[in-house]
Amino acid sequence: MTTAPIARRTHVSASIMCGRLDALGDDLRDLQEAGVDSVHVDVMDGSFVPNLTFGPDMVAAMRQSTTMDLHGHMMVEHPDRYVSVFADAGLDVYLFHIEATRYPLRLIDQITEAGMVAGIAVNPSTPLSFLRDVGAPYLLIMSVEPGFAGQRWVPATLDRIQRARHLIGGAAVIGVDGNVSTEKVRAAASAGASLFVCGTSSVFTGRGGYQQAVAAVREAGGASSVEDLSPSR
Ligand code: DX5
Ligand code: ZN
Repeated sequence: MTTAPIARRTHVSASIMCGRLDALGDDLRDLQEAGVDSVHVDVMDGSFVPNLTFGPDMVAAMRQSTTMDLHGHMMVEHPDRYVSVFADAGLDVYLFHIEATRYPLRLIDQITEAGMVAGIAVNPSTPLSFLRDVGAPYLLIMSVEPGFAGQRWVPATLDRIQRARHLIGGAAVIGVDGNVSTEKVRAAASAGASLFVCGTSSVFTGRGGYQQAVAAVREAGGASSVEDLSPSR
């Protein structure tokens, strides 16, 4: 067993549902120039969450406008049904909710076979014990109930990031999504997260340009040192 810390670069993922929806192409260009690492695309079906957002045609349009990686946060029932259509649209990372499937291992294989990278998103009240048996390159810890921007941070989140890191060891990237302010980035990075979904609480505040906001998040995230706590290594 090694306890050597793994240094992980801060990953800034911009939540595009909080962007300028009437000028998405311009927004994507500005975000890329500001140094954002990926675009977080919240896909909502009006059933898994009580809201509706982007479908595959919007993703395909974004794919034409940017070279940044596109991460789909799939807040949908039956996430297995949309893998191929979103792969064709150009998603790079497919983050499904563990609450939405009974067959996560099969789904991860399906995502990988479609040429995307798999990620698992988990709601604030879902036990993390599944992580003993199911793993993917990305784990997205929700720090709000999914479905809407501008909500309050669930206080147990930092503890959950720490527990998740303990359960999965150093292997996966842990991200956090929901009310991620610069202060929360600092705390979540110490707890073991290195990917930050930035919405109305940090990058899309309506104050100043993206450049400054993205730099502040990156500075707060630092180079997270993720301790490898996996007993099998
Ligand atoms: C919540 C969404 C988030 C949200 C984050 O359901 O998944 O991506 O847009 O933005 P803020 O910072 O407004 O919580
Ligand atoms: Zn999201």
